[in-house]
Amino acid sequence: MTNYKIALLAGDGIGPEVMKEAVKVLELVQQRNDVTFELMPALFGASAYFDCGNPFPDETIAICDQADAILKGTIGLSHEESKNIPIELQPERGALLPLRKRYNTYANFRPVYLPKELIHFSPLKPEIIGDGIDIIMVRELVGGLYFGHKEMGITDEGLRYVHETLEYDEDQIRRVLHEAFKLAMLRKKVLHNIHKSNVLKSSVLWNEVLEEVAVEYPEVEVLHQLVDSAATQLCLNPAQFDVMVMENMFGDILSDQAGGILGSLGLMPSACIGPDKAYYEPSHGSAPDIAGQNIANPYSMIGSVAMMLENSFDMKEEANNVWNAMKGVFGDGFSTPDLSKPDSGVTMISTDAFGDKVVEKLRNMPRVSQ
Ligand code: IPM
Ligand code: MG
Repeated sequence: MTNYKIALLAGDGIGPEVMKEAVKVLELVQQRNDVTFELMPALFGASAYFDCGNPFPDETIAICDQADAILKGTIGLSHEESKNIPIELQPERGALLPLRKRYNTYANFRPVYLPKELIHFSPLKPEIIGDGIDIIMVRELVGGLYFGHKEMGITDEGLRYVHETLEYDEDQIRRVLHEAFKLAMLRKKVLHNIHKSNVLKSSVLWNEVLEEVAVEYPEVEVLHQLVDSAATQLCLNPAQFDVMVMENMFGDILSDQAGGILGSLGLMPSACIGPDKAYYEPSHGSAPDIAGQNIANPYSMIGSVAMMLENSFDMKEEANNVWNAMKGVFGDGFSTPDLSKPDSGVTMISTDAFGDKVVEKLRNMPRVSQ
């Protein structure tokens, strides 16, 4: 029997609600498999700041350090509420980026996946969606503008200024490109390289390193695309993409757009992988406007559990069962009010009822042979 320690960082807003559903799934997974999970909840984000003055407290760091994997909910407050926290301690700057940095989670995998059971959520026309969408975005997660030198001040002329630099060295670029090429090898052997080398020197270096790395993966066809054009193409013809790789800020923006073509960021789980540790999180925010109402869909959160099972615990078959359970619930015509309009022909259920249905489906799936 293998025991895995999982740090649970429920976070802010809808985080605790969707985390509760993820825990139900984990509890069933351990009943069905030869594993035990030691779940270790810890404070993280604005809630941690209000509790103890630190959005990423030392106790949480200690728990994450011990964990085999980290499952994170959502963090953040509304624009207005954020003003109650000093800028450096706001949950994004004070907790999430330090988490990424501490565990050096350089490769962020964001599946943009719309199987037939979910097609009705997409705002795209049926002829554009075809049989569905199946892309994985690979976003560099610990470099670029997010982690570059930052400075604010007053010029000699008395003007406020800011410097924010987009920094990469070749090793940072190379390691994430390897992840993208390896993934492309497992899929269609086509890799879209997203860049802005007509303007940014960082993209010039990125592309140089890509040419070097590509030599090691001769079977992978590389297609180069400027990031602005990629944004258009994602809407016009998403089927042309399979694996896309890009630097941090491009990935932040394009992955939200990808959520848009699916119909919601509520349909986008993610995995953030480092050399020694990985953490898993929904790509969506904490949705303070709907927090506490039991209407947020837990798909991104439970999908992040599936990604954790596959990547951190080598349980690919059970991960597939979790995906299929969720698809099954949508396929049976259920949804939650955050994803669907009242007249959209689906049966509207709450967050916890959705989680219960996923658990029920998973319970009825054949157990994975050990
Ligand atoms: C994401 C989020 C974060 C980011 C925020 C919360 C700092 O938007 O994971 O995409 O910008 O990386
Ligand atoms: Mg984002």
